[in-house]
Amino acid sequence: MQAQANARQEPEARPPRGPTPEELAAKPPDGVCAECRGPSVAHMIYDVFKKRHRWIGPSRICDRCSDAVMGQERQKAEAKQRTAAQVQWARAGFPEDLGRWDFDQLWDASQAWKTGDDLARWQKAWQIVKTWHGHKGALILRGPVGTGKSALAAAAAKALFRLRSVQPVYLPVPDLNGALGLKNRSPDRDAARERLWRAPEAGLLVFDDLAVSKLFVDCQRYVGIAIARAQKEGKPMIITTNASLAQMAKRLARDDEHGRVTDRLAGSSTEVLVEGESFRCLRKTRGAA
Ligand SMILES: Nc1ncnc2c1ncn2[C@@H]1O[C@H](COP(=O)(O)OP(=O)(O)OP(=O)(O)O)[C@@H](O)[C@H]1O
Ligand SMILES: [Mg+2]
Ligand SMILES: [Zn+2]
Repeated sequence: MQAQANARQEPEARPPRGPTPEELAAKPPDGVCAECRGPSVAHMIYDVFKKRHRWIGPSRICDRCSDAVMGQERQKAEAKQRTAAQVQWARAGFPEDLGRWDFDQLWDASQAWKTGDDLARWQKAWQIVKTWHGHKGALILRGPVGTGKSALAAAAAKALFRLRSVQPVYLPVPDLNGALGLKNRSPDRDAARERLWRAPEAGLLVFDDLAVSKLFVDCQRYVGIAIARAQKEGKPMIITTNASLAQMAKRLARDDEHGRVTDRLAGSSTEVLVEGESFRCLRKTRGAA
């Protein structure tokens, strides 16, 4: 009982002395727990104001039942938090086949498809992307089709989301470009414009397939503005592309006449070459075999 009484003391309220025999003798009788019908005992505390030990309780439910209730409450709170986190991740808007990846899964999956030098090269890219941590300006993943750029981008975004609660926004540039090229007032067009316009409100901007093809004026403008704003506010960005910086500069030329945006990108990015065999081809040929 003594040990239990001491264990319940707050550190700042550590009693200057042990309880006197009279204080100990004042222990109230055990009660009956309303939950389990077992004994509910009183606890001794030190009253820092009155400078004496005294008993509290027994409480309506015993310590064990009260711990169980607390555990349930905590579990409920954690479950709620998890659901909230999923909602936030869903808000990033990754397509399902990309959004499911994380670094560990990619590492494991790569070994089912790649071997030797090809595997080693991909692993090197994986390593650099994994250690990026969103601190060094933009992360640019460059390479030919199907080498896993978008999947690595999704994994990097998920790591920041999980570890630092950074809210990503996924911007599939060709799709958005297509929507912005639509004539008339289409809801898709409005949605695309809204998505790009509000992108800098997110904590991490993921431009997928920037500069694959010629961009419409509106798309150039919005992408240019979003990148410039993210740079100004020091927000991390991930860009996947099969274009060189020079080609990217050309795509954004209309709204970045003096190449400031692309210059800054060039100066402050981590560039990773994601080359080698295309996962897409490997899957196709091996799937067919
Ligand atoms: N490490 C990996 N292991 C196994 N499969 C992978 C891996 N990375 C990506 N994939 C799969 O390979 C396919 C191509 O990947 P992804 O879309 O990321 O490539 P990409 O370089 O972005 O291609 P694109 O240039 O066409 O956009 C996808 O189906 C993806 O799920
Ligand atoms: Mg891609
Ligand atoms: Zn009980």
